[in-house]
Amino acid sequence: MAATGTTASGESAFYVTTPIYYVNDAPHLGHAYTTVAGDVLTRWHRQRGEKVWYLTGTDEHGQKIMRTAEANGVSPQEWCDKLVEDAWKPLWEHLQIANDDFIRTTEPRHTDRVQEFVQDLYDKGEIYKGGYEGPYCVGCEEYKSPGDLLEGDLCPIHKRPVEWLKEENYFFRLSAYGPRLLEFYERNPDFVQPASARNEVVQFVKQGLQDLSISRSTFDWGVPIPWDPKHVIYVWIDALLNYATAVGYGSDQAKFDATWPANVHLVGKDILRFHAIIWPAMLMANGLPLPGRVFANGWLMVGGEKMSKSNLTGISPRDLTSHFGVDAYRYYFLRAIPFGQDGSFSWEDFSARYTSELANDFGNLASRVAAMIGKYFDGVLPEATDAGPAEQAIADGLAAAAAQADTMIGDNLDFAGGIGAIFDFVKQVNGYLSDQAPWKVAKDDSPEGQARLATILYTAAESLRAIAVLLHPIMPATSAKLWASLGAEPHLGALADQRVADVATWGKLPAGAQVVKGEILFPRLENA
Ligand code: MSP
Repeated sequence: MAATGTTASGESAFYVTTPIYYVNDAPHLGHAYTTVAGDVLTRWHRQRGEKVWYLTGTDEHGQKIMRTAEANGVSPQEWCDKLVEDAWKPLWEHLQIANDDFIRTTEPRHTDRVQEFVQDLYDKGEIYKGGYEGPYCVGCEEYKSPGDLLEGDLCPIHKRPVEWLKEENYFFRLSAYGPRLLEFYERNPDFVQPASARNEVVQFVKQGLQDLSISRSTFDWGVPIPWDPKHVIYVWIDALLNYATAVGYGSDQAKFDATWPANVHLVGKDILRFHAIIWPAMLMANGLPLPGRVFANGWLMVGGEKMSKSNLTGISPRDLTSHFGVDAYRYYFLRAIPFGQDGSFSWEDFSARYTSELANDFGNLASRVAAMIGKYFDGVLPEATDAGPAEQAIADGLAAAAAQADTMIGDNLDFAGGIGAIFDFVKQVNGYLSDQAPWKVAKDDSPEGQARLATILYTAAESLRAIAVLLHPIMPATSAKLWASLGAEPHLGALADQRVADVATWGKLPAGAQVVKGEILFPRLENA
């Protein structure tokens, strides 16, 4: 195993995590945003041919969940079971999330290992008993600094009054880790992204860290501290450890070695400090290798505020998928908002992009090409015998789009940029068809005219072959429909087995493929 302070090695799986979500309520757009982003990232890496592990799950302990359950007259465990099975897991299935595992923090595979981890830190002298009092926000499950509060006692995120807590707790010697963390950020400049997030973290650590209270004794919905079971482990220490317990920490060494550490932890910007400060310090204390990257995404906003259930602004993803469809939903948020920045959701903007980018630019291209191959060549893809500079420009455009998308999506998590590059290519193919006007060339039934017509339609179909592969991580169902309509599978195999590295190799779709005009990819929207 690598020494502490190293980043993810090339041999282990490309391991990506989402935050584990609190199950006090049903998921809204903000939660789905991160989970879809992780799904696109991991599908992209699978399509590179890499071994991938994608983890999501639920955070089920702490006061917030306990109070919600009490208010609903059920036990916390009953509440969690119901929300997980009725709301969270079905939503991820609905959104076509291809996670490899789903961890719940109430599972023994997690709780047992959390106790061992904390015991280990205690044995190493990293944990001591002390007292703390201060303002606490149950929404954040976090002690706040008095200076951060709004109007004297409001949490800056939840805009609700904090509670004053005074407790005897166990503390983790976080303050000792400041210098090592700063050195680690220095040596690994990409550890925290985007740059604004990195600056925030570095500034915060430079100001000096305080030791962290890691236990609670005023309620009991949590994992007991093994040497003093009157206390439960602070929900954030419990939660962060899911990233380790889910991949076999302390139970399945082979799996752990093949997966650990995470290459990318995706987090919302409000939980950045937990992941970029506390989490690496915990790992340093235990002697485990550190993750490769913590990427903080922005918030989806409504009326200038973070969208949230507690503010009654949480929109259910199903309200949008029922209108726009799942693939358009997966596409829209990643295309419309630069990853890392805040963005406002607007029904009008979604409708406009759906119609112009998905239905007109992309959907129409696919149906027109299939229709013309049907009409002029009985649905049998003709050979391109007359390729010239215009066709070369398309092949070059594809190579550029594929390379850009691969770097932007696969390496930089710049989803908006990468999808933009693919759609620039879609536009280029549309421009090619307008210039070449195959419907006019079709009227020329000389051998030259027919060779030209065949070449144009081959070029368009071959472009669509590549577009189906490039869009597969983003819109899997639509790409599968396109793949079927191009008759690609009998010749090239399953869509999921196509590789990014050779997507731009020109001429893969062979003449003779049976092209059919499948169903419309993006039907006209009903009036909402
Ligand atoms: N349980 C903790 C995370 C523990 S990870 C070890 C938690 N849960 S949460 O359900 O409150 O939030 C989970 C994620 O959803 C966070 O990354 C948060 O930023 C994200 N979002 C919640 N509302 C959001 C928006 N309106 N927009 C974008 N993401 C937001 O924190």
